[in-house]
Amino acid sequence: MSSNILITGAAGYVGGSIIADFLSSSSPVLKRSRITAAVRSDEQAKLLSESGINVLQLDLTDEKAVVESLVKHNINIVIHTASSLDPTLALNLLAGLAEQQKASGSKAYFIHTSGLSAFCPKTGWPQGVMKDSGPIFETEKQFADSFSLRKTDVTITETAKALGITSFIVVPSTVYGKGKGQWNQLSVIFPIAVQASIKQKSVSKFPEDRNIAGVHISDLTELYGLIVKKILQGSGDTIPNGTHGHYFAIAHEMAWWETLGRLAAAMEARGLVASSETQVWTSDEAAAEATGVPEVFVEIFFNSSANIIVDNAFKLGWKPTWDKARFFENIDDEVVSVLELGKAKSSLIDSLFLAAKN
Ligand SMILES: NC(=O)c1ccc[n+]([C@@H]2O[C@H](COP(=O)([O-])OP(=O)(O)OC[C@H]3O[C@@H](n4cnc5c(N)ncnc54)[C@H](OP(=O)(O)O)[C@@H]3O)[C@@H](O)[C@H]2O)c1
Repeated sequence: MSSNILITGAAGYVGGSIIADFLSSSSPVLKRSRITAAVRSDEQAKLLSESGINVLQLDLTDEKAVVESLVKHNINIVIHTASSLDPTLALNLLAGLAEQQKASGSKAYFIHTSGLSAFCPKTGWPQGVMKDSGPIFETEKQFADSFSLRKTDVTITETAKALGITSFIVVPSTVYGKGKGQWNQLSVIFPIAVQASIKQKSVSKFPEDRNIAGVHISDLTELYGLIVKKILQGSGDTIPNGTHGHYFAIAHEMAWWETLGRLAAAMEARGLVASSETQVWTSDEAAAEATGVPEVFVEIFFNSSANIIVDNAFKLGWKPTWDKARFFENIDDEVVSVLELGKAKSSLIDSLFLAAKN
């Protein structure tokens, strides 16, 4: 099956890296498909077009423009990385896919990107260990009202089902590594931690140590690729999808204090912090001030753990190539990326401020 695949947030860290991976893939089904990047600004559209990428310049909040574009370009697969929080963007894309499905008579697929904070006890997710092939959707629905990310996942899954669109939810954990896209190549958590540490001349941690889950950007994009290849091979409706379609991109766990200790050592070796000893934040307010993350989200952002066991991704054949040891050996890369690329510009932080206001 050849397809028209649209990747939203294509100027972003995750979306840009997916595009780069897909365009360099040797997979025959991906090579036969037309891959299009959705970006927001003139500058982004110009840069990506100049690199030979098919580009659609779209503000995803504009329902009419989104629906018209998806129909005009016969888009039947959307990978949505532009917002995990704001459901409006995803609903507009689903409306476009539904129209396209009606017009073409061919099946449409929607891959949403969520975040691990939706599955953390700190945000109201129940304690205890759960497999991603277990009742994840039902639990998200039960606790949807207490955290906007869960509500968005549920709304998307239910709307897609009602429209006859097959949906999947990819849940990245803490993503690290330099992105491969044309625009933003920086992730969020480690770049912000590095920037805050440079500013404070020390690396700081929260008083309680937790295990956090991590994944290298190349392993994350591999997971999106596996799902898309299954769709293109005609198995999109037989692999777990819809209310059973959560795919957690968790490659390994790591203790947050040990990780920050490693980061402090790498930064001290570069003369960026005064000591390889980590400090403890004096308050959430101080952590928010130093990191630029809203106070209500700062601990969720930098110290949340989730007890999810990956099943669905491994059943698809996902084999992450980065583990904790490899990450620690290369932790200096996180510092180098910030020194090379400057301040992280993630629209995720903007959306957190918006969510904090509401
Ligand atoms: N990076 C991580 O560690 C991580 C972990 C878990 C989950 N996630 C989730 O993964 C998704 C992607 O993350 P990321 O790190 O790639 O973020 P990012 O670098 O900020 O990329 C998001 C992109 O979406 C675009 N966008 C936002 N609103 C839009 C709109 N209304 N219309 C068109 N484009 C819009 C942004 O455009 P502009 O460039 O114009 O702002 C940006 O290029 C996010 O939803 C995030 O919550 C990320």
